[in-house]
Amino acid sequence: VSVKLEEYTPYPFEIDQVSLDFSLEPSETRVKARMTVRRTQPGPLVLDGVKLKLNEIRLDGKTLGPDAYDLTDETLTIRAVPDAFVLETDVTINPSANTALSGLYISGGRFCSQCEATGFRHITYWPDRPDVMSRFHVRMDADKSKYPILLSNGTPGESGDHSDGRHYAEWDDPHPKPSYLFALCAGDYDVWRDTFTTMNGDHVDLGVYVDKGQAKSAEWAMESLKASMKWDEERFGRAYDLGVFNIVAVRDFNFGAMENKGLNIFNSAYVLASQESATDADFEAIESIVGHEYFHNWTGNRITCRDWFQLCLKEGLTVFRDQEFSSDLRSRPVQRIKDVMRLRARQFAEDAGPLAHPARPSKYGSIDNLYTGTVYEKGSELIRALTVFIGIDAFNKGMQIYFNEYDGTASTIEDFYSCFEKASGKDLSQFRLWYAQAGTPEVKVEESWDAASSTLTLTLSQKIPATPGQPTKQPVPIPLRTALLDGKGAHVGVEGWENGEGVIVLEDEKMTVDLKLTGTSDKPLLSINRQFSAPVRIDRELSNEALLELAAAETDPFNIWDNFQTLARTEIFRLLDNPQSPPDEALVGALGDAVRSNESDPAFAALLTALPDIGELFQHREPVDPAGLNDARKRLRKALGENLKADAERILAKPSPAPFKPNAEQAGIRALRSAMIGLTGALDTADASRKLKSLFDAASNMTESLACLRTLVPFETAERDEVIETFYETWKENPLVIDKWFAVQVGQGTADDARRLSQHPDFDLSNPNRVRSVAAAFSMTNLAAFHARDGEGHKVIGDIILEADKRNPALAARLLTSFEQWRKLEPVAKASAEKVLKDLQSQSLSKNASDILARALG
Ligand code: ARG
Ligand code: ZN
Repeated sequence: VSVKLEEYTPYPFEIDQVSLDFSLEPSETRVKARMTVRRTQPGPLVLDGVKLKLNEIRLDGKTLGPDAYDLTDETLTIRAVPDAFVLETDVTINPSANTALSGLYISGGRFCSQCEATGFRHITYWPDRPDVMSRFHVRMDADKSKYPILLSNGTPGESGDHSDGRHYAEWDDPHPKPSYLFALCAGDYDVWRDTFTTMNGDHVDLGVYVDKGQAKSAEWAMESLKASMKWDEERFGRAYDLGVFNIVAVRDFNFGAMENKGLNIFNSAYVLASQESATDADFEAIESIVGHEYFHNWTGNRITCRDWFQLCLKEGLTVFRDQEFSSDLRSRPVQRIKDVMRLRARQFAEDAGPLAHPARPSKYGSIDNLYTGTVYEKGSELIRALTVFIGIDAFNKGMQIYFNEYDGTASTIEDFYSCFEKASGKDLSQFRLWYAQAGTPEVKVEESWDAASSTLTLTLSQKIPATPGQPTKQPVPIPLRTALLDGKGAHVGVEGWENGEGVIVLEDEKMTVDLKLTGTSDKPLLSINRQFSAPVRIDRELSNEALLELAAAETDPFNIWDNFQTLARTEIFRLLDNPQSPPDEALVGALGDAVRSNESDPAFAALLTALPDIGELFQHREPVDPAGLNDARKRLRKALGENLKADAERILAKPSPAPFKPNAEQAGIRALRSAMIGLTGALDTADASRKLKSLFDAASNMTESLACLRTLVPFETAERDEVIETFYETWKENPLVIDKWFAVQVGQGTADDARRLSQHPDFDLSNPNRVRSVAAAFSMTNLAAFHARDGEGHKVIGDIILEADKRNPALAARLLTSFEQWRKLEPVAKASAEKVLKDLQSQSLSKNASDILARALG
């Protein structure tokens, strides 16, 4: 059974106001709801509700008998209702039995909630769909000694003590919202507090609620929150709209974080950070996710989605906003490269496999499975491409139209695009095809140079591969930022272009463009899709020499990095096909030179040392042999390590920046130091092992300790064992660090390591972070071992999925996606993956897991 976009119908009632009354007890929580309902269209009153024990229903004060309603496992239908009435329900739920972590559940002895997408129906009967928006008033009572802090959306109202050791608190949210934004937290916390004054002069109380004794670890999240509030005012003119903004850190959480109105709930991994225990990547992720959830207040909460098909209306746009936030706070080019790395690893792979779907799908089996790279990352790329297509001024104007005209509504992609049509005067219907068609467009670029007329003619053509259910595609507008360069990297003037750059839009299947130079020159070099202006694959027939020449002349940092990625990828495939051949010296030399000459921008230099990962290489060959690829990649990495050996020694001989600051500048220095630690390990010598051990002992921050640990894992030396042991002993009380300890071992190890660690006493199936630190870290980052021919990698992950699915279907379904590339594997591993998937399918798994299995095998 699937839900279809075209079948949307409005809900026939409005619920202006709802009061919820919670009597909190872990295994028996009583929830009373009182809603004021008004009919707007003909139709029955159907409420969603799952695993609720119904105690009573009252309509306008009168208790309804069983013949007045119909109850199924998933719905409550009231048979006859007047046009305006008050409905009261009374149910009992069991949060402590909620292992799926959707709805109200217990984590670390505290109550917390997760309602997106459909968790609210596990709390009370309600039309659990985003287009039903209501004003929520919440009252809760609980044992005061166990749950001294009671939080919900909006601002606090009355509170007080009862005589029996219980207390109560009320919260009121004046902004109408859909049920997926409801939140409740209750327990004992420490709080890191601060305040913010908005651009309108309004005072906001800020709080970050964490485990007892950890308040100080919330400081960075708080700094990030204030920076986000300021940035949204400056960049988009959007201020916060309540007197309170709270964040609660939760240890057991299925996702990264959740944007509940005024009460964001976070996976503790994206809140807690101390300089000893957090890496620069952690600090960066916290900043970006705090920003992401805060930015949802305008793009998601005040303007929400009409239905879940529109998910990328809020997610794609909010990812775009958080990427821009990070670019403004840190380095724009470095941010762009990292975002594209993530896009290619996550979304391009998804788009090329059996789980491919449009950014706005037209049907789905399970909404939980649509929180994907395509909806998030491709969704963001489409908005970025739009900024290039209509220009940044029209984009900014369109955003203001959107905020002003759609505030308070549940909207669609069409609504959103109508704002940019108004702002730009352009018809964007063809652009919107990007949202309807799955698959990554491939753009073929051919050049011909006419010296007599000083004209470079480009022939561009696009092809969008077939994807499940979409055998043929129509062309989409592809905006390509372009420059022409001379051999020394000076921009060559082109008629009609300003500032040495132009935007070529490929709208049809094929086009030719004449770029007529304003002066005379030799044949210029073509720099195309600068800053990765469109989320496509570029296909150019360039020799290695031509690519090296282009990399040397490039002025766009993204393209410099990308040219080296292309060169490295080609070289890895050549090494794969020629097992005896040594790595190409010209390439290794050029890459080493590029790293050395960019040392003054260490974050960028560090990215240059990163060879394309196996997941990325996967997409360029079929059938694929991940172990062979891994081997070829290692040979190239070793050659790069030899080229940069003296530089690594020189860089690592300097002390790490002190005193520690988590800012971009210091993070860049540590990134390059970590890259050098990694390349030291690539040399694979006894000397390297000793060196890494002493670097580990001397490391003054988690970024470098972890780099040493990660690099040592593949060694077979006493130093390696010692470091693994020391790290564990040092950090065994800190679950977030121990997650990393698990992840680096399976990330470099074998299926046996994954099996052994899944049986470690600290492995915990009820904690999603811990499960992911073993299962996802193995299956999604260690493809050579996961897809090893003996089939053991597939088996160990299949076993974990089977166990996880019994308690937490969303988690199991996410882990299953690591099999998505199975059809591309060489025959032996392919057969073993298929067998594991088919065995799982025969086990009657959850709806979420079955949906992924059916599509992966289908
Ligand atoms: N809206 C949240 C965010 O992106 C994520 C919610 C995830 N929910 C889910 N069912 N996958 O910020
Ligand atoms: Zn989001």
